[in-house]
Amino acid sequence: MSGPVDAREEILRDALSGLTAAPKTLPGKYLWDATGSDLFDQICHNPDYYPTRQEMALLPQVAAALAARVRPGVTVVEFGSGASRKIRTLLDALPEPAAYVAIDISGAYLAEAIGRLAPDYPDIAMVPVCADYTKPVQLPVAAGPGGILGFYPGTSIGNFAPPEAALFLERARTTLGPSLFLVGADATSEPERLQRAYGGADGLMAAFHRNILVRLNRELGADFDLDNFRHRIELYPDPQRVEAYLVAIRPATYRLGGQTIAFAAGERIRTDTSHKYAPALFQALASQSGWQPRVLWEAEAGSFNLHLLEGMGGAT
Ligand SMILES: C[S@@+](CC[C@H](N)C(=O)[O-])C[C@H]1O[C@@H](n2cnc3c(N)ncnc32)[C@H](O)[C@@H]1O
Repeated sequence: MSGPVDAREEILRDALSGLTAAPKTLPGKYLWDATGSDLFDQICHNPDYYPTRQEMALLPQVAAALAARVRPGVTVVEFGSGASRKIRTLLDALPEPAAYVAIDISGAYLAEAIGRLAPDYPDIAMVPVCADYTKPVQLPVAAGPGGILGFYPGTSIGNFAPPEAALFLERARTTLGPSLFLVGADATSEPERLQRAYGGADGLMAAFHRNILVRLNRELGADFDLDNFRHRIELYPDPQRVEAYLVAIRPATYRLGGQTIAFAAGERIRTDTSHKYAPALFQALASQSGWQPRVLWEAEAGSFNLHLLEGMGGAT
């Protein structure tokens, strides 16, 4: 497995730059250590977190349609593979997949997930790649005889604002080469549903976001007092998105990398954003990034969508 990608210096630089800016932010990619990944897996099982349920319900019909379209010996490449659960539906349906390349930034969790998956698929080469997909990623294996199928499920594309999403799609085109690419996109706009999923999930969301401070304390020797931060979300209409924050309850100062980080009461750190992509917007971004939108599958009247794109690859 390649990696590790989260060099201490890089996290420190990014954390200092975000926490000394106004307003304060932390890059969402640092939510994903082994604890963050495990908390997210619990969130996926919580009934309030609707996207996993919707996508899982849609996947069998999508997998059957792909099985009819893809040749035997395809190499499947998943971006942000997490617990590698959804991929089972594809691997079970596709004709004799040659390899599964799982790309994830959360290295230890990735190794565990592949360790659980591999025994059930002895004829498929398992290729974990610990990498940050916001940077160029090169596949360590050649395309199988059936070509390449990319997979980017869940709501992860929503972590990007539209220009960054277009950039990610362009980079993915270079990584995958000539390929099909199945991408999930959440388009939910109902405030109550978003509030329950992103603000609640039985406190799991709060634990997931606070874990980013736990990580800074552990890995960078910072001294954030976790009890001084509560988790809050806000919904914005344009572009439509959910933003997650950790809000300081009392004024406080903390130490990080030899610097002092001061908080006023009520001052907040933005820890993540989840943009909602209606089909027309997503397809416009995909086309702008050199992909041809081919098929759209919708769950619950378009609340969650899976898009099949086709691309001829990009410049390396
Ligand atoms: C929302 S979870 C989705 C997990 C799984 N694919 C699913 O749909 O349930 C996002 C996954 O992407 C990974 N991830 C987040 N940012 C990343 C980055 N910049 N590079 C690589 N992986 C990343 C996380 O570690 C996590 O496993």
